[in-house]
Amino acid sequence: MRPKVIRKYDKKIVVPEGGVIDYGESLSKKISTPGLEHMVEKILISRGCLAKRIRALAKKIVHDYRRAEAIQAIVILKGATIFSADLIRAIYELNGPPIEIDFIRASSYKAEAESSGKVEILITLSDNIAGKDVLILEDIVDTGITLNNLKSYILRQKEVKSLRICSLLDKPSRRQQPIEIDYIGFEVPNYFVAGYGTDYAEHFRYLPFVITIKPSFLEDKL
Ligand code: IMP
Repeated sequence: MRPKVIRKYDKKIVVPEGGVIDYGESLSKKISTPGLEHMVEKILISRGCLAKRIRALAKKIVHDYRRAEAIQAIVILKGATIFSADLIRAIYELNGPPIEIDFIRASSYKAEAESSGKVEILITLSDNIAGKDVLILEDIVDTGITLNNLKSYILRQKEVKSLRICSLLDKPSRRQQPIEIDYIGFEVPNYFVAGYGTDYAEHFRYLPFVITIKPSFLEDKL
């Protein structure tokens, strides 16, 4: 049997505990929203690092979907929008298959959702996903509850040809429900992160990099 070739883009990228993947961006200059800087602890993942990793994910996806006619992306609102826009364009640049784009939104991150294990669908799919190769795009998997619920919901709608999951970030230390994630950008420690689509109380989504929020602001979040 031929040994399995581990390609560079197959490698897991783990952000070290207390560590930073930072290519020297200056935090104070970049966060321009007055009054919010004090909530920010540090840049966790820089723009350069995000761009590099997204290209690697795109490469793997293009390889895995080389026989697919098209990819039906399902972008989970709101957090996955910015990541998805960059990933989808990277797949195009690498001559991947055409991508159809749909959106879904679930109630996010409420104490009740965590304890009950239920999420509410707020915006549902508009495309017909029957027979499609579906790729769910998520910003961060934490307890796993949202994604598990969305996955079952999507599978209940129509019979899809295949279904895979891609998440920019993964916080495995917080998992309550097991979920298989096919493509992970970065495994992160138990920080509350924001930026690059993810938010802290709707703030910071616009930042082109991932930051951590100071623990003193998180009493109701973690
Ligand atoms: P889960 O259901 O606990 O896996 O949570 C998933 C959702 O919670 C994500 O889609 C995010 O919207 C949100 N979330 C979890 N952790 C964080 C974080 O550190 N920062 C921002 N949002 C988060």
